[in-house]
Amino acid sequence: MNFIEFEDVTFSYPPVEGDLDENGNQIVPAAVFEHFSGGIPGAFTSIIGPNGCGKSTLMLLASGRLVPSSGKVRLLGQDIASLGEEQRCLLASVIYQNMEFESNDKVENLLSFVYKNGALKANSKGIKSQDLFSEVVEQFELSSVMNHGLSEISKGENQRILLAFSLLYGSAGIFMDEPMFAMENRQKESALEYLRSYSQETKTPMFLSMHELDLSKKYSEKVLLIHPNKDMSYGTPDEVMTSDELEKAYGIPAAMLKHSEDMTREILSQQSEALSPQKKPNV
Ligand SMILES: Nc1ncnc2c1ncn2[C@@H]1O[C@H](COP(=O)(O)OP(=O)(O)OP(=O)(O)O)[C@@H](O)[C@H]1O
Ligand SMILES: [Mg+2]
Repeated sequence: MNFIEFEDVTFSYPPVEGDLDENGNQIVPAAVFEHFSGGIPGAFTSIIGPNGCGKSTLMLLASGRLVPSSGKVRLLGQDIASLGEEQRCLLASVIYQNMEFESNDKVENLLSFVYKNGALKANSKGIKSQDLFSEVVEQFELSSVMNHGLSEISKGENQRILLAFSLLYGSAGIFMDEPMFAMENRQKESALEYLRSYSQETKTPMFLSMHELDLSKKYSEKVLLIHPNKDMSYGTPDEVMTSDELEKAYGIPAAMLKHSEDMTREILSQQSEALSPQKKPNV
């Protein structure tokens, strides 16, 4: 059985009140996915593709945080949108893109609370030691911020706390939307290496959307590439991340993508716009 099953899924974001065209008619957003069916196995998977291709939307649908306009999404065979909140969280946790904490509780309290009240009941081995809690604190270099309030942390620390949070909660599967954003390169590599081992050893499928193609290629077990027209390619990094496929998806020569392995997503999208002015809408 695949971990995720999309069954004839159509999804559009709701119209925004007051968003009118030149004739004063309500603008209705185009569907992001239309009659999409397909299964995605449970693995340490990166989801890649250019800005706006639907990476975040796909993860939010798969984790039941967005509900399809029609069709069904099953996670481990269960209709994810029909579950209550706690059951849904136990099946799939989500690190949202640009997620920040709202409370000013101490980091240590938050992490202990999550570990105790999630699936692991504050009692789990790590993959390198007898105690998962101290292992993730060390792995994500959090010991010096354990006494900080959640609004007294840097962006990179915020991301590392989210990574620790998602493992300590112990969901069956974890969805991470640009989880390494604002982290240093050394920390990204170390986090990816650890997450992949954790995913494989504990059989916890993880899905990460990423813009760092070099890291995605180096660490992913599987890659899902979403093209702007919603065609998808799935397989090992070597199978999917060919020059041809990347060029087709990103609309810029693959050599440029290779040279720009650590380009930020903003630069990437600027380059893509600059190289395909014919695709820009007339304004
Ligand atoms: N809240 C929203 N309301 C309306 N449209 C949205 C909303 N969020 C995303 N969209 C649109 O849905 C499409 C898919 O967006 P999505 O955020 O899934 O892309 P993405 O691949 O995650 O992009 P990025 O790389 O920029 O994070 C885009 O056309 C986007 O403009
Ligand atoms: Mg996104």
